[in-house]
Amino acid sequence: MSSVIEVKNVIMRFGGVTAVDHLNMAIPKGSIVGLIGPNGAGKTTAFNVITGFYTPTEGDVFFNGKKITGVPPHKICGLGMARTFQNIRLFYNETALENVMIGRHIRRKHHWWGAMLGLPGTNREEKEIRQKAEELLERIGLSEYRDELASSLPYGAQRRLEIARALATEPSFLLLDEPAAGMNPQESLELMNFIRQIRDEFNLTILLIEHDMKVVMGVCEHIWVLEYGKLIAEGNADAIRSNPRVIEAYLGEDVNNVED
Ligand SMILES: Nc1ncnc2c1ncn2[C@@H]1O[C@H](COP(=O)(O)OP(=O)(O)OP(=O)(O)O)[C@@H](O)[C@H]1O
Ligand SMILES: [Mg+2]
Repeated sequence: MSSVIEVKNVIMRFGGVTAVDHLNMAIPKGSIVGLIGPNGAGKTTAFNVITGFYTPTEGDVFFNGKKITGVPPHKICGLGMARTFQNIRLFYNETALENVMIGRHIRRKHHWWGAMLGLPGTNREEKEIRQKAEELLERIGLSEYRDELASSLPYGAQRRLEIARALATEPSFLLLDEPAAGMNPQESLELMNFIRQIRDEFNLTILLIEHDMKVVMGVCEHIWVLEYGKLIAEGNADAIRSNPRVIEAYLGEDVNNVED
């Protein structure tokens, strides 16, 4: 099976802090995989390195076999990678539809000033962007919020809207940073189904960071565990759940009450 992402010996230092320390990961195409570990373990930093927000101190990242180390985030996004953030980032004074259209604009061919000049190609493209955004809202089950301001959406819907905006860039690889954070048990259950559904419908490979072990163990085919920037374990849910080192460092004894 080919790897969509390969992280090779990545080190990320901030002054005296080594946030990510010799990280190696290979993510199979079409899989849903997870990155877990205690607060401050380096999970978000690993995301920031993979998505190009940070250039690693050492090591390399490959996306579909192509080295992307040092490539700026918008170019990496253009190659088919999209993410959501640990703290939801939406344009709260824009409607749900407008938020998705913003994601779509990265794919546009014509310049923004073309619309001001009324150039025909641009207007057609603008219409297409709106139509595609509407379709996406429909597929994601957010149509009822189309014209609502993002700020007025229920929390779970805001999280899904952020994912919809990421999908609007037409990614093949999607990174979700704590998608279940702040969700109630019912919402997290729906989120698990939603993650599987978008993987299948949009042909994605998905990497998620998540503290909700029910979600992680329920949807992830492979899991990497970080502690103080170092990989302390990797494997499937059963292997991780029963790994004494992981239980000690992160999961605690009550992990065996987690069912998937
Ligand atoms: N830009 C930065 N400058 C300095 N230190 C940073 C920076 N980003 C992260 N760190 C440090 O790197 C370490 C890892 O942080 P990171 O945010 O990656 O952890 P995390 O695993 O995502 O934690 P959480 O579960 O709390 O989100 C922490 O010690 C953090 O303080
Ligand atoms: Mg984090």
